[in-house]
Amino acid sequence: MNKILLIGCGHMGSALLNAWHNQTSNYFSVVDPNKHMILRRAYKRRVSIFQSIDKIQNTQQFNIIIFAIKPQIATKVMRKFIGLKYNKKVLFVSVVAGKKISFFNNFLPHNNQFVRVMPNMPSVVEEGVSCLVTNKKTSKQNINILTDLFGKIGKIYWLSAEKELDKVTAISGSGPGYYFLFIDLFEKAAVELGFTKKIAKELVYQTAFGSIKLLMKNSKSAEKLTNDIAIKGGTTEAAIRFFKKNNQLKNMISKAVKVAHKRAIELSKK
Ligand SMILES: NC(=O)c1ccc[n+]([C@@H]2O[C@H](COP(=O)([O-])OP(=O)(O)OC[C@H]3O[C@@H](n4cnc5c(N)ncnc54)[C@H](OP(=O)(O)O)[C@@H]3O)[C@@H](O)[C@H]2O)c1
Repeated sequence: MNKILLIGCGHMGSALLNAWHNQTSNYFSVVDPNKHMILRRAYKRRVSIFQSIDKIQNTQQFNIIIFAIKPQIATKVMRKFIGLKYNKKVLFVSVVAGKKISFFNNFLPHNNQFVRVMPNMPSVVEEGVSCLVTNKKTSKQNINILTDLFGKIGKIYWLSAEKELDKVTAISGSGPGYYFLFIDLFEKAAVELGFTKKIAKELVYQTAFGSIKLLMKNSKSAEKLTNDIAIKGGTTEAAIRFFKKNNQLKNMISKAVKVAHKRAIELSKK
């Protein structure tokens, strides 16, 4: 049984809390300045809510402390963690995008155990991807605990170097946004053909869901399935030939991913 302290309970913090509260018997303390009333109503057992870290008497009780605050306020929030009393075996975890392990070292004890995680938005429905990197001090036991915890919100991958997280940000981190954009434009194109918004949405969502399910259950690659469905002279082939004209779509996707990667590197330098 773990005693977990969660700092920040917005979109990502509440996704973690919700999944872990439902699926584990751990105890949770949550610090969030404005959501304590809502949280108190939502969680009656095994969750204690605090408006600020100053209100917690015994910070040594926690074996995991997770930071899920916005990067913009990270320095202000982390200042409060300088000189607190910690459990000897405590593991610090951050899901804060773009903030390196070295940033947190400025505020935490020497030789701390630290894991940085990049989860993604579908974690809210427990279908996320989380990529994790650890510093050298983290124990095998703590690595196993985190593997289990982040496994509750989707798939997990341990990376060997922190700089890999900038690449992950451009793929699984920002990726949900790319799919939402394509789905949105596809829905709008269906409406242009004359469908109501409701029908367009149903056709497009189920097609996306069914295609991903088929792909994941199939041994064939996406490229092979594209070729299989695009029968010569047929409708899909006509559209796909258009998508592939002059490699425009391929180049656009490749460039967009590189732009996101470059931006992730820039943000992690700030
Ligand atoms: N959302 C995602 O899909 C996603 C994916 C990967 C990584 N992340 C990372 O996760 C972190 C949180 O993102 P989010 O989307 O969950 O943001 P969010 O919804 O804004 O959540 C942050 C929470 O922290 C609270 N907070 C503000 N000041 C605080 C303090 N001093 N102590 C404790 N809590 C405080 C905020 O309260 P108020 O709203 O009242 O200010 C809010 O509830 C970010 O660093 C982001 O990069 C998010």
